[in-house]
Amino acid sequence: MGTILLMLTIAYLLGSIPSGVWIGKYFYQKDIREFGSGNVGTTNTYRVLGPKAGTIVLVMDVSKGIIAASLPYMFGVAATVSPLLIGVGAVAGHTFSIFTKFKGGKAVATGAGILLPYSPLFFAIACTIFISLILLTSMVSVASVLGFIGITITALLFQDWLLATIAGILTIFVIYKHRGNISRIFSGTESMVPFGLGLYL
Ligand code: G3P
Repeated sequence: MGTILLMLTIAYLLGSIPSGVWIGKYFYQKDIREFGSGNVGTTNTYRVLGPKAGTIVLVMDVSKGIIAASLPYMFGVAATVSPLLIGVGAVAGHTFSIFTKFKGGKAVATGAGILLPYSPLFFAIACTIFISLILLTSMVSVASVLGFIGITITALLFQDWLLATIAGILTIFVIYKHRGNISRIFSGTESMVPFGLGLYL
């Protein structure tokens, strides 16, 4: 029990690192929470600070999930403690960061990262769904929400009940965090990335 609590604490603190906020503040003298969608994630960093900063934040946010979900392997308890369960600690940190008054991102990049140590196959499937949907719709929010729904359905098809449960819970949370995006999608005002078929539909 002590080991699980220790791993969850490390995962939470790791997830709490507000990559977008710190990169913006210390390298661009800009608080990304005051621009664009106000979100602290990759998409808004890309939107406000450009592709270089966006890529760094993407790598950092996905890595937070990967490292956190790798903790059970590092502690030698992966046979009894699922990487997914510890990974959820990082997702909690990312969305309710101790460094930003318990506010944070929309759970997407860090949530995807926890899949890699658990199952590279599911991680590859999630990335494929996500990237295809961005290329199809040009909207990261659509790809994010449908990507989580997609991985939940895939887990059900593979009869991976643990992943289906965690992905299902995260999907509900991701939908809630994207409620503003969803109303913009329906009113036709959601912002788009400068590539993909969605630009021409
Ligand atoms: O992962 C967040 C993304 O789905 C939407 O970001 O900044 O457009 O709200 P944003």
